Amino acid sequence: MLITLETKPFAALETDALVSYVFEETDPVQGRIAEIDQAAGGLLRKLAKSGELTGKMLEFTLVHTPAGLKAARLLLVGAGKREQWNSAAGLRKIAGAALRYLKARSVKSFALLVREGHATEETAQAIAEGAVAANFETDKYKTDKKNDKNIETVLLVGFSDAERAAGEKGLSKGRIIADAQNFARDLVNEPSNKLTPRILAEKAEAMAKQAGLSVEILDEKKIADLKMGALLSVAQGGPEPPRVMVVTYTPANPKPGAPVIGLVGKAVTFDTGGISIKPADGMEKMKYDMAGGATMLGVMRALAALKPSVKVICVVPSTENMPGGKAQKPGDIQTAMSGKTIEVLNTDAEGRLILADGVHYAKQLGATHLVDAATLTGAIVVALANVNVGVFGSDQPFTDKLLASSKAVGEKMWQMPIDDDYREFIKGTVADIQNIGSGKGGGAITGAMFIKEFTGDTPWIHLDIAGTAWNDDAKPWLAKGPTGVALRTLVHLVLSY
Ligand code: BES
Ligand code: ZN
Ligand code: ZN
Repeated sequence: MLITLETKPFAALETDALVSYVFEETDPVQGRIAEIDQAAGGLLRKLAKSGELTGKMLEFTLVHTPAGLKAARLLLVGAGKREQWNSAAGLRKIAGAALRYLKARSVKSFALLVREGHATEETAQAIAEGAVAANFETDKYKTDKKNDKNIETVLLVGFSDAERAAGEKGLSKGRIIADAQNFARDLVNEPSNKLTPRILAEKAEAMAKQAGLSVEILDEKKIADLKMGALLSVAQGGPEPPRVMVVTYTPANPKPGAPVIGLVGKAVTFDTGGISIKPADGMEKMKYDMAGGATMLGVMRALAALKPSVKVICVVPSTENMPGGKAQKPGDIQTAMSGKTIEVLNTDAEGRLILADGVHYAKQLGATHLVDAATLTGAIVVALANVNVGVFGSDQPFTDKLLASSKAVGEKMWQMPIDDDYREFIKGTVADIQNIGSGKGGGAITGAMFIKEFTGDTPWIHLDIAGTAWNDDAKPWLAKGPTGVALRTLVHLVLSY
């Protein structure tokens, strides 16, 4: 899909569809919409009077062969009330929803007209992000592509010649970020027979080489040499060997004393639960238990192109969680890379085990600030549903910075507590710590507290994306399935240094 900026007047555009958006207000026919209305001989005002055009959020009004325009169709999308409007967030959704609406009607190209005052780098970026992410489908393994529908070109209009440079910069940035998001979503969508830890590592290596990032893949031997006992304890349950991917971005002129960001992602390519096996119902979804790792790899892919000024080290521990004959059993005691001993009371709480070694290793490689992303707990779905990412942070200024990034890019995140009162939950009986709480609720916090044990004094943030990494229902602007959540926030966070 091509996205380009076009400064020609909208009435002269020969396109399958001219798209714009309308606010919900007493007279929705204003500004550029009034210009279209004039060209079309008062049609829009008539539609508004009759109640067909109200501006309600994501209302679609489609007009065929509109008079006075060269476009074959005119599509007006509701933008909601002006008081609630946020240009970037609003246009990301509108661009995505318009794309999916038109794609479903076999349209091949459209022009999106931004409203008066909305022609900025920020809105262009949001539009590119929305359109590219909306164009992603999960039909890779369908052999019948008869109904293959695709948007080939998107024109961005409403920018003057003076605004062109800003618009083009935004488009290129948005494209990089959404391509990276789709790269992550594609990995998440892969079933576990097509994406084992070894295959994920190969893909990570290929991506890193292509992007110009340095990469090292640790195999089972190297993992054993490093004494990553927590990761190995999960991997021992099945025949597929584990991998740890280490992808590093180093800026051209690193500043001495600058922070080094460590990004650690959980990549369990399939989580059966191990000996503490999960029920059959819905187990197929556990192929997405590697979404945290995929997100971090996607972040690195974007950073390689956006070139921030700080160093970033990405560590992705990967394994299956299987109940084989050699699998660990409830009550087993393992020694993590850090030397801490762990009572594994439930083999299904495996994400925190592999992250324990992941964060420890990222610190050893020089990370001064840590962020992990993981589909860690069903409990976060109980707490925040599929709406907010759960955020746990050991350092409030660092956490505030991440929350500000999440707001700026329109990804909903909500901070959860991890004060010392929760430390009780994971105190071990026969070893240092145990991998589940002692039946007092707060499951998502317990998971975070476990990882925290391995971060020491390093500022650290944990993102529990179990509820948000997968959409059970399609949204008007996004296909059903993997979302790539947290990627935009993390890219923004790194760029903010
Ligand atoms: N991968 C799961 C968490 C999960 C649940 C991800 C739902 C996506 C959707 C994780 O490894 C797990 O099984 N966690 C257990 C922890 C429990 C045993 C303390 C859980 O949440 O039930
Ligand atoms: Zn599990
Ligand atoms: Zn898991």
